[in-house]
Amino acid sequence: MNLYSEVLKMNWLPVCKSCELKKKPLHIKLLDEEIVLFRNGQNISALRDRCPHRNVPLSKGRIINNCIQCPYHGWKFDGLGICRETPGANPVEPCQSYKIPAFKAQEEAGLIWVKLDSTSVTDILKPPVHALNKDFSTQIWTTSIKGSLINALENFLDGTHTHFVHSGLVRSEKDRKTITAEITPRADRVEIIYKNESSQNGIISKFFEPERYESKASFITPCIAELEYTDKNGAYFMVSAYLVPETNTELKVFAIISHRNSFIPGFLKHMVINPFFRTVLRQDKKILGIQQDCIDRFGGENFIVTKQDLMRPYIHKLLSGEDISPIPKFSTLIYL
Ligand code: FES
Ligand SMILES: [Fe+2]
Repeated sequence: MNLYSEVLKMNWLPVCKSCELKKKPLHIKLLDEEIVLFRNGQNISALRDRCPHRNVPLSKGRIINNCIQCPYHGWKFDGLGICRETPGANPVEPCQSYKIPAFKAQEEAGLIWVKLDSTSVTDILKPPVHALNKDFSTQIWTTSIKGSLINALENFLDGTHTHFVHSGLVRSEKDRKTITAEITPRADRVEIIYKNESSQNGIISKFFEPERYESKASFITPCIAELEYTDKNGAYFMVSAYLVPETNTELKVFAIISHRNSFIPGFLKHMVINPFFRTVLRQDKKILGIQQDCIDRFGGENFIVTKQDLMRPYIHKLLSGEDISPIPKFSTLIYL
C-alpha cells in the first residue's frame, strides 16, 4: 500500500458497523494491515491479527477476561497487545515482553473506527453532523468495491458518467441542461455547488425529489465523498460515503445516508428510494470493477484529464498533502 496511505493513516477511518462486532473477535483489513477487533469491556481493541508465537490469526481465537486467546497454544494478549499468559510455560519466565502492535479504536455513530498512525496529532473523530441530527432519518450502507480510492471518489462525485451508467435512472442523454458549477477549494476539502439544476431528468429525481434549489458535492479528506441536496427549506438529502481502502484496489464503503423527516417520515423515504439507490450502486460497482480490470491488464493507468473533470485534480492534490486553500473560488458552466 502506498497510494495516499500517509494521509489515510493519520485519520480515523470506519472499518465495520457496530452491530458486526459482537462477542467474537472480528478480522478486518485496513490499508494492507490485517487487524483483529474485539470488545474489551467498554472499549474496543484493535491488534495486528498475527500471534507472535507461530503466526496464527488471533481472530480465530476467543475472548477470555478482556484478553484475546490464540487458538493454537493458548497465549493470551490484552487490549494493548501485551502478552499476559503463555500456558504451560515456566512461571518465572516473563511473557509481558511479547507484544503485538495495537491501534487506536473507538465506537461512534454506529460504526467502529480505527486510526493506524497513533503519533499523528489529528486525534478528533468527527462523524458527519447529519448522522446525529434528529431532524433526519439515517441509514448506514456497507459494500465492497473493486477500484482505487481516487477512481471511486471521482465516480461518486462526478455527474458526467450518470447519463450512461445510470441512463434513465439518474440522468439521460436527451434534455441535458447547462448548469453553473461553483468550485471552492478549502484546506481539507473541495466543494462544488451546482446551481439551477432544479431536478435531474432521471426517474429518481422526477418521482421522489422536491424542487431542488441547489446541490453540493464535496470531497473531504481523507476519503469522504459527500452529497447534499437542498430545497427552499434547506438540506433534505445527504450522503457521506467513506471509501476506505483495504488495499490499493479494494475499498470498503460506509455510506451514511440521511433523509429529512417531513410529513413523510424519513424511514419511509428510505424504504421507497432504497431499491433505486441499490441499482445505482450496483451499476457504479460494475463500471468501477471493469475499469480496474482494464487498468490491471494494461499494467497501470493512462488517463486523459479534461476541463470537465472538475473534482479529480483537487482530490489528487489534497490526498498528496498539497494545500489548495489559496486557490480562489471560481465558477464554470457544465452541460449535464
Ligand atoms: S501460535 Fe499463538 S500461541 Fe502459539
Ligand atoms: Fe454513479
